[in-house]
Amino acid sequence: MAIQEIEPLKLRRKRCWRVDKKDKKFIVAMDGPAGVGKSTAARRVAEILGYAFVDTGAIYRCLAWLAEEKHIPWTDGPALGTLAQNMHIAFVPHDGGQRVFVDDYDVTDAIRTREISQGSSTVSAHPQVREVLIALQRKLAMEASHGAVLEGRDIGTVVFPDAAVKFFLTAQPEVRAKRRYDELQARGVSASLDDILHEVQARDLQDTARAISPMRPADDAEVFDTSALRLDEVIGHIVACVRRVDPIPSH
Ligand code: DC
Repeated sequence: MAIQEIEPLKLRRKRCWRVDKKDKKFIVAMDGPAGVGKSTAARRVAEILGYAFVDTGAIYRCLAWLAEEKHIPWTDGPALGTLAQNMHIAFVPHDGGQRVFVDDYDVTDAIRTREISQGSSTVSAHPQVREVLIALQRKLAMEASHGAVLEGRDIGTVVFPDAAVKFFLTAQPEVRAKRRYDELQARGVSASLDDILHEVQARDLQDTARAISPMRPADDAEVFDTSALRLDEVIGHIVACVRRVDPIPSH
């Protein structure tokens, strides 16, 4: 599908600014399921627009990693809530990307394992965890100088329901599993495509079925099926949509 064929975004000019004029931020919400390519797309969109980038999934991953280090079960909501309150995360720009630190440990690679993928989905279902980590996500976005791109599951519905621009990226599970598989291959991790598909589907179920802020498109989000699109087409479309509503188009 060519980019021109994609339905144009509903414009929401009134929503561009979500706080008082002194501290206005332009928020772009990019939600969607595991393996849809949100992270890479959101990072690049933020780079092109000169916005901050907040990878909210990485924050849940950090908590799952830290819980494992401290031998706290991923099922223990109250203990995880306390752990989240005391966790120090830093995103440090590095070599065109960013590295993630938890309490001074570089966990950039450690939080990307298949085990932590599953664990992050489990820890994210606890209300005690979400309360703390959603506040952190809002704080990180509000530290941006002009605007921020946040990617996750509930950015458009819960974290920033007044975001200026909202996307919900989708792709068929088989396509997402193949993208994840290729990513792992590129990192030298061997895995079976069938296992990855199974994990992607299990995570979809867990992320959509949880009682608190389940993954779903916001009513005013553009649901964007990327199954047949290249990454640069996805990025191009989102950047063009944001530029249509951002009063400061280049930074
Ligand atoms: O986007 P990701 O695969 O890195 O996210 C890891 C897990 O974190 C995901 O399975 C569910 C959870 N998550 C969430 O509940 N809310 C978000 N905004 C982002 C991620």
